[in-house]
Amino acid sequence: MTLTGKDLISTKDLTREDYEYIFEITKRIEGRNAQGLTHVLPDRIIALLFFEPSTRTRLSFSTAVKRLGGETIGFSGEEATSIMKGENLADTIRVVEQYADAIVIRHPLDGSAKYAAQVANIPVINAGSGAEEHPTQALLDLYTILREKGTIDELTIGLIGDLRYSRTVHSLLYALTNFDVTVYLISPPLLKLGESIKGHLHEKGVHFKEFDNLADCISELDVLYVTRIQRERFVHPEEYLKVKDSYKINMKTLSNAKENLIVMHPLPRVGEISHEVDNTSHAVYFKQVRYGLYVRMAILSMIFGREDRITG
Ligand code: NCD
Repeated sequence: MTLTGKDLISTKDLTREDYEYIFEITKRIEGRNAQGLTHVLPDRIIALLFFEPSTRTRLSFSTAVKRLGGETIGFSGEEATSIMKGENLADTIRVVEQYADAIVIRHPLDGSAKYAAQVANIPVINAGSGAEEHPTQALLDLYTILREKGTIDELTIGLIGDLRYSRTVHSLLYALTNFDVTVYLISPPLLKLGESIKGHLHEKGVHFKEFDNLADCISELDVLYVTRIQRERFVHPEEYLKVKDSYKINMKTLSNAKENLIVMHPLPRVGEISHEVDNTSHAVYFKQVRYGLYVRMAILSMIFGREDRITG
């Protein structure tokens, strides 16, 4: 398998073998604690085009490039760019590819990353396209599960919260169709997973069940993946107000959980996980951030066909 020269737009495009190979390279990078790898991309410039707010994903990509010896250019927010003068996305991409060797893009519109990849002649990595997908987050989520549980197969994985608008959930679900898992979808009715993704899960033979309340299934879970309610994606603010405090993970909600349950979150959290959970062995959301660095280093080196420079 090779990612050389390819775009990474959707986890739907990856196979089980792809995941396993990405994890193998990631493991090597983790084994080196991301150190001593500046010989991997010393001649590469990566454009980070962030049209939407980001803390982790942008800093994570930026750190990953630097740890591999490369350089970054780009922007965060449109304010200081020609987009404010009315430049369209296609032109921005055509300009940026004259400078850079690959593009990492986050954009508020569904379909934006795919469109950028069609326009660009250099590899494009989707760092979040609207409410649609966020493939590198899904890869780091899977790697976290693998590292913390020793396997992805045979687990019962609960996803709670904004299943309707959370792009990290969508990418993770597409990825999980390659593994032998049981998925519990837990959310208030207004935030249920869209029918088309449910159809995809059916088609791929994934066992899944829907729940309104965490209390009805918490004792069965090996992994609990918590999401933020994505206020910015609601068309009607009154809908957001209806659901905004509908779930909270705290010591009480976890009292019936398996001792080795892991609680994950793509972050940022805005109150869905109470701070008292942070110091328990359930909490792995900050470890996820570190694993994310290794995964993004793996992806970047693979896109340039340089993974053989990473020795174990
Ligand atoms: C997520 C995103 O941007 O989709 N954040 C992230 O990249 N870790 C989740 C979110 O914003 O809630």
